[in-house]
Amino acid sequence: MKYEKIPPLIWKDEYLELLDQRYLPHRQEIVVIRNVEECFDAIKNMIVRGAPLIGFTAIYGAILSLMNKGDFEKDIVYLKQARPTAVNLVYELDRCMKIYKENKDESLERLISFAQKQMSKLGENNLRMAKFALAELDKSLNKEKYNMLTICNTGYLACGPMGTALGVISHAHSSGRLNHAYATETRPYLQGARLTAYEMMTENIPFDLIVEGAFSNLLKSGKVDAIFIGADRVVANGDTANKIGSSTLAIVAKEYNIPFYVVAPTSSFDLSMDHGDEIPIEMRPIEEITEVFGQKIAPIGSSAYNPSFDVTSHRHITGVICEHGVIKQLRESKVRDFLNEK
Ligand code: MRU
Repeated sequence: MKYEKIPPLIWKDEYLELLDQRYLPHRQEIVVIRNVEECFDAIKNMIVRGAPLIGFTAIYGAILSLMNKGDFEKDIVYLKQARPTAVNLVYELDRCMKIYKENKDESLERLISFAQKQMSKLGENNLRMAKFALAELDKSLNKEKYNMLTICNTGYLACGPMGTALGVISHAHSSGRLNHAYATETRPYLQGARLTAYEMMTENIPFDLIVEGAFSNLLKSGKVDAIFIGADRVVANGDTANKIGSSTLAIVAKEYNIPFYVVAPTSSFDLSMDHGDEIPIEMRPIEEITEVFGQKIAPIGSSAYNPSFDVTSHRHITGVICEHGVIKQLRESKVRDFLNEK
């Protein structure tokens, strides 16, 4: 079976087309978004997902608000509530609000060109981060080829042409520096099994899927040289919110002395927070656990606990890689200080 890359988001001048990520890889459906409410639902119900892409979808939501002559300020507040953990949503909407306030009469044209500019910068930033990551491994491990592990989905479906953490794997592969990749299935929503595996198939990357319960087995075996994850929010001391299971992975990685990196653009940084405990964690419907794609699994009436993200302590992170470089020896305000110096 040959899998092709399909763009996750296309702006069509009057409306937005989104690839419905809920049905990938076996069904490829496009959803048309024509107004703010549809944009809100697409983010909340995960037609579109992944921190950077959530932010970009929201920019188009702001554009649709202006095109439909909605109450812009109210729409921005509304869109910000679609999902709580990925700071990119608030970050991009705040930037839209700033543009709007600077010049209300020209705000539509200016927002459209802002959106295009941000999208075109993504590829460049993805590649910068991937190069920093590979150089970092060459400094610390100095191997010809690397075995890499990632969690959730951080590729082109979520983060731009190449992706962030998955972009590192993709770049290593295209440079002949990847031996093998491992991707976690990412229960309960299966972003790893459905989306990351799909993306790796499109690029012929050699990989194995694992269940999250196999972390200790795999890392102890010596089959993984380094781990790369994305981020929904990185705060001033380096604590990082990412898909549920990321923190477990980091703790196990520390036990087996395996380097653990967060790869995220600065649009995922929230320097208004000092500590990861301040990050709001999204709770998702329990049916994501008690059912699998509408098929009941647990006994009817079972309760469940379904946090969508966890916070990895900076103590378990070897480095945070952004478009400006690698931030290491994370501790209080280290990320803020690094950016202030840029
Ligand atoms: O619930 P999702 O699919 O939006 O979660 C995505 C992740 O956790 C990603 O790892 C994160 O957004 C980092 S970059 C896409």
